Amino acid sequence: MKRLIVAANWKMNKNVPESIVFTERLSKNLLNLRRTDIILCPPYTSLFNIGEILNKTDIYLGAQNMYFEASGAYTGEISADMLKSTSCQYVILGHSERRHIFNESDDLIHKKLAAALETGLKPILCIGETLEERQSGRTVNILKKQYVAAFRNLSESQMRNCIIAYEPVWAIGTGIVATPEQASEAHKEIRSLVASQFSYKMATEMAILYGGSVKPENAAELIATDDIDGFLIGGASLVEEQFVSIADTVEDYLAKQEK
Ligand code: PGA
Repeated sequence: MKRLIVAANWKMNKNVPESIVFTERLSKNLLNLRRTDIILCPPYTSLFNIGEILNKTDIYLGAQNMYFEASGAYTGEISADMLKSTSCQYVILGHSERRHIFNESDDLIHKKLAAALETGLKPILCIGETLEERQSGRTVNILKKQYVAAFRNLSESQMRNCIIAYEPVWAIGTGIVATPEQASEAHKEIRSLVASQFSYKMATEMAILYGGSVKPENAAELIATDDIDGFLIGGASLVEEQFVSIADTVEDYLAKQEK
């Protein structure tokens, strides 16, 4: 059975001591997950310490961003190799906050994706439409534009190392979650883009996560929805009970499917 993924995007939250205490407690509460992959993406400053804690567990470590150049005069930036050296295996790229607050272009995101893959990091590539784009009927076009720009020229083996996160901008941090129908429709659209670039098999195997106001109260309904392979969680990943509850919901769903 396909494994599902629950990824935590802490954004700019938790300093180093806070991250360590939180991760030590959280990792103990996630020990019994056998079917669900957990990825924690703390801020850069906590990566090394959290990596040391997670190395003793089955939980993966991810970063929230990186720069595409390998090294050099890029004040304030972090390379893929630097992330790898902290035992990071994943990196979130193209998050809507990077696109909208920091003006990251599709082209820049593509370069980052290529550099991450080259270095052996697995990108979690975020795409999603704004409210205005949805209301004007442009959701499918925007998803296609962002998908094509990010994944152009990738080989099949590179694509196998990618995860896609559908994150409607209007649902991020707003408490307004996409309905299962809205999410499923977008995920089907994304899967058909993968199928036309690669193959139906690749599209079926691709992990497509949903992100945007995922909470313990809506996780069960969403995970039972066609085409949702897990979650990328912001706000609820900062609260231990909420994150554990969502992870348990996903694990329980898989356990029931197995029977
Ligand atoms: P949220 O954030 O869960 O707080 O809506 C999701 C994200 O930005 O990845």
